Amino acid sequence: MLAEKFDFTRYATVSDVGGALALLSRIVGARHPYLSSTSFDLPPVVPLAQKRISEAGMQERIQAVGGDFFKDDLPKADVVTMGNILHDWNLEKKKVLIAKAYAALPSGGAFIVIENIIDDARRENVFGLLMSLNMLIEFGDAFDYTGADFRAWCGEAGFARFEIIRLAGPTSAAIAYKP
Ligand SMILES: C[S@@+](CC[C@H](N)C(=O)[O-])C[C@H]1O[C@@H](n2cnc3c(N)ncnc32)[C@H](O)[C@@H]1O
Repeated sequence: MLAEKFDFTRYATVSDVGGALALLSRIVGARHPYLSSTSFDLPPVVPLAQKRISEAGMQERIQAVGGDFFKDDLPKADVVTMGNILHDWNLEKKKVLIAKAYAALPSGGAFIVIENIIDDARRENVFGLLMSLNMLIEFGDAFDYTGADFRAWCGEAGFARFEIIRLAGPTSAAIAYKP
């Protein structure tokens, strides 16, 4: 849904942070063949991602890179994506990751998170609210968040323009643009 609904045509490179088996890179790359991308995850994940990228015949356009997103700089790209990453962490760590995404983007670049973004009034996205409770139980201090939360944290980091694109079911893409 992100590959269909977000206008990637303005960009050339994508960095998917916490990209696991590079599924986002493979789907977005198949839909937008002019893009090249990096799927960034912990080092033990890299060979698994590489296997999937090779099976898809996309080695020329997708690179799997190993690293720790709290210790290392994020791979630079026109678009930085994080699918189900920010909700794994507490507020302090969420803000660290947002600042790192900002640093990895050029002026005009887009930071996209894909999560069960909760509606600002916290009344409609029941799945997102329950997911937030689940993260709290699993990790003690992790939580899901609203579009307004995302806007406020990204605004603090320097991002200037925001949008929410509804994807499938309870899932949305929240997008912040670097001025
Ligand atoms: C909840 S999964 C999300 C995977 C994928 N983006 C998705 O939406 O399905 C979190 C991912 O973050 C990766 N991860 C966790 N800690 C990390 C770290 N410190 N540095 C880099 N990647 C990390 C995990 O290996 C895992 O692939």
